[in-house]
Amino acid sequence: MTQEKKGSRYWDDRFSRQDYAYGEAPNDFLVWAAPQVRKGKVISLSEGEGRNAVYLAQLGFDVTAVDFSSVGLAKAQALAAKHQVKIKCFLADLNDFQLEPNAWDVVVSVFSQPESPIRQRLNAQLPKSLRVGGALIHESKVSVEDNASGKYPSVEILRGEIAPLHVSFAHQGARVLAEGSYHVGSHTTAQILAFRV
Ligand SMILES: C[S@@+](CC[C@H](N)C(=O)[O-])C[C@H]1O[C@@H](n2cnc3c(N)ncnc32)[C@H](O)[C@@H]1O
Repeated sequence: MTQEKKGSRYWDDRFSRQDYAYGEAPNDFLVWAAPQVRKGKVISLSEGEGRNAVYLAQLGFDVTAVDFSSVGLAKAQALAAKHQVKIKCFLADLNDFQLEPNAWDVVVSVFSQPESPIRQRLNAQLPKSLRVGGALIHESKVSVEDNASGKYPSVEILRGEIAPLHVSFAHQGARVLAEGSYHVGSHTTAQILAFRV
C-alpha cells in the first residue's frame, strides 16, 4: 500500500465536492460497537466530514471531532445541522495533538491512518486519556507488508500499542466496504473494541 504523506490540502481537495467522500452513513463497525460503550464524552480522531460524529450525537453522546481539514469539518457541521444535532469541531493536526489524561469516555479512530509516529504516540496516551470504564472504537486499513512503522499495521501491532487496555473484541480480515465513493469493495481491516479497566 502507498505510504505517501498526505497533508491537509490533499484532504481539503478531496472534501471539496458536494457529496460526502465516505458517505453520510456511519461506519458499520462503529454502529456495532456504540451500544456497548458508556454514553458520555467522545472524541473522534480524524473525523473528516462528520458521518460518525453526527451518528454518535444522534445517540446522545457529547461529541468532539478533530481533523486538520477545515473543509471536512465545515461539512461535518453542515451534516450535524441537517440532522439537528450539535457537535464540537476542533481543527488540529494530530501531529500536535495530545490526548489529555482522564478526559474521554470514548475515543473513536475510524480510518484515521496518520503517520506511524503520530499513531504510536496517541495510542500510548490512550490508556490514561480514557476514563476508567471508557472505550476505544478503532477500525483501520491493514497492509500485509506493513510493520509497526507503516501507516497500515496489523491488528496485533495495534493491540501492542494500546496495551494495557482490555481488548474485548479484535478482528483482522477482508470485508466489503460501501462507504461513499472512496471506501468501496474488499479491504483488509483491523477492528478493535477495548476498555480501560
Ligand atoms: C480516510 S479519511 C477518514 C475520515 C473519517 N474518519 C471517516 O471514516 O469518514 C482520513 C481523515 O484523516 C484526516 N487526517 C489525516 N492526517 C491527519 C492529521 N495528521 N491530523 C488530523 N487529521 C488528519 C483527514 O483530513 C481525513 O479526514
